[in-house]
Amino acid sequence: MKQFIKTGGRHRTLEGWPLVFTLLVTVSILIGGAIEFIPLVLVESNIPKIDTVEPWTPLELAGRDLYIREGCNNCHSQMVRPFRHEIERYGEYSKPGETIYERPFLWGSKRTGPDLARVGGKYPNLWHVRHFDDPRSTSPRSIMPRYNWFLNWDLDYESIPGRLETLQTLGVPYTDQQIASSIDDARTQARGIAMDVEAAGGPASLETKEIVAIVAYMQRLGTDIKKSTASTSVQP
Ligand code: HEC
Repeated sequence: MKQFIKTGGRHRTLEGWPLVFTLLVTVSILIGGAIEFIPLVLVESNIPKIDTVEPWTPLELAGRDLYIREGCNNCHSQMVRPFRHEIERYGEYSKPGETIYERPFLWGSKRTGPDLARVGGKYPNLWHVRHFDDPRSTSPRSIMPRYNWFLNWDLDYESIPGRLETLQTLGVPYTDQQIASSIDDARTQARGIAMDVEAAGGPASLETKEIVAIVAYMQRLGTDIKKSTASTSVQP
């Protein structure tokens, strides 16, 4: 063995010192990693911005936090991959620029249920209300659990400014004015959804309940890119 190491030249000698070798390998991997990683963080233009992508409204943000609270991402992904079968089922594939304001991201990797990245506008508000109240009422053999408490639990409006402020600290471009008016804005958007649900024959006075926030969030998902004329449409 010794003979073999000697004849193998300097590299063989290095390999004969396991600790030194491990250290050198670690250092070179770290340097390589840093060279790949640092420009990604520093150069903003690495992520192509999409002009029509804007931060969540206060009500949608509250809905997104309910989505996280309930762990919806354990069953639903929010990323359409650039494969033909995905695009045909869900719509345009997800772009990095669509999730620049996501803290934390909710791309997910588990699809017990369908991908939700483009679910906004797919169903009327009332469909979502019925579906959360009891998924079997809209999708007969669904295995999605009921979230009927969304219709009964009061939405914590008072916590909304704090939610926006936290994201502002993390770099999401909310203005102080938007934070100051966030409760009023959320109530206005909630009233709109509640009135629409009632007009469509659904339950009345939902504007104070959690359901309006989660529905607002669902209806916005993946819609920003549709406002963009420059969006790269998929050529089948
Ligand atoms: C146990 C897994 C599971 C969990 C947890 C779950 N879902 Fe689902 N979801 C499903 C399945 C399965 C379907 C397909 C059948 C149906 O429409 O109910 C579905 C369908 C949906 C749809 C309709 C999608 C479409 O394109 O038709 C929406 C919207 C949705 N879920 C939202 C949610 C939200 C929001 C939560 C959390 C509050 C949640 N789901 C939690 C399994 C789950």
